Amino acid sequence: MASDTPSGFDPPPHPYDRLDEIKALAAQHPLGLLNLSIGAPHDPAPPHVVAALSQSDQERGYPPAHGTPAYRAAAAAWLNRVAGTDIAAADVLATVGSKELVAGIPHWLRLQQPELDTVLYPAISYPTYAMGAMMAGCRAVAVPVDSEWRMDLGAIDPDDAARALCIWNASPGNPTGAMDDLEALAEWGRARNVPVLSDECYIEFTWDREPESILQYGLDGVLAVHSLSKRSNFAGGRAGFIAGDAHLLEFLGAVRQHSGLIIAGPVQHAAIAAYEDGDHVTAQREIYRTRMEAMIKRLAELGVDCEMPSGGFYLWAKAPNGDGWDFARTLATELGVVVSPGEFYGNVSDGYVRFAMVQDVDGR
Ligand SMILES: Cc1ncc(COP(=O)(O)O)c(C=O)c1O
Repeated sequence: MASDTPSGFDPPPHPYDRLDEIKALAAQHPLGLLNLSIGAPHDPAPPHVVAALSQSDQERGYPPAHGTPAYRAAAAAWLNRVAGTDIAAADVLATVGSKELVAGIPHWLRLQQPELDTVLYPAISYPTYAMGAMMAGCRAVAVPVDSEWRMDLGAIDPDDAARALCIWNASPGNPTGAMDDLEALAEWGRARNVPVLSDECYIEFTWDREPESILQYGLDGVLAVHSLSKRSNFAGGRAGFIAGDAHLLEFLGAVRQHSGLIIAGPVQHAAIAAYEDGDHVTAQREIYRTRMEAMIKRLAELGVDCEMPSGGFYLWAKAPNGDGWDFARTLATELGVVVSPGEFYGNVSDGYVRFAMVQDVDGR
């Protein structure tokens, strides 16, 4: 007889759905609620990119799952310009933003190597790395981070490495903004035959160094993961790509094509206009830099020490009493600002909060 109680995977609540209590506190602030919890861009996408959505003539047919030749060429040319890489259109595979790829890739890699069951990811990171592992029935094994929030490759248990389908990294990272040694990471993966997945969606938002891609250190055994969501305030467009190892791209291209994972034709067309233009990114960088500096100053007035990160548009601040949830409540009450408790990004970071500097905090 069928049971009413499902015994399989029970998805946990989405992190941002756990902020209702904090939002209720912030809503009582005289200036109202300012949501700095979620990293969704608040500034507009470039008008010429939005206009291009209606000028593609790519509505009636099915767009290529791998990306149109023009999309792949524009993405490759952009990365070569920004990071000094030397990739071709054929090294690029279109993705629908990047979250679907992050969540889906452990499952696909496991189809190819069912004997492997482990996904390695930074102990403080974007939660979907671990969620994708869980949804593939894999072990999600957190790699410790050092005092500068960089992944400590030396701390990885060789048994975990031997079972690994892939290792994730983000540079600049979310939430800490740390930038890793991507050359060392590529070498670590190649030496152990573990594919390295380098999430580079904040690549152009760097504050103390030049943008860096893992593809500067060769394509074998690595994939760079990119998205226009943050770069071009185009999260609603859902456009991104992966680039790198030819064998991985061939396999992933095939399974993704069979799955119907395709960027909409008009979006591919508009995205080309975004890749081709760097001026809007230069302007957006200055907006983020100014906002982050203003918030750091405001936090100093409250007695909270917080530094400009190496990259990204998040501020990662230590809770004065060591309790991130408690500090989030205080910020909601005193400033009307909603932030993310550090626990969203790993259980070793519950003494921190993350500010997504997507809106101005003037006057708070
Ligand atoms: C590090 C990182 N990777 C990937 C994503 C997914 O973004 P998207 O699917 O819009 O490209 C995010 C979104 O916040 C992120 O912070």
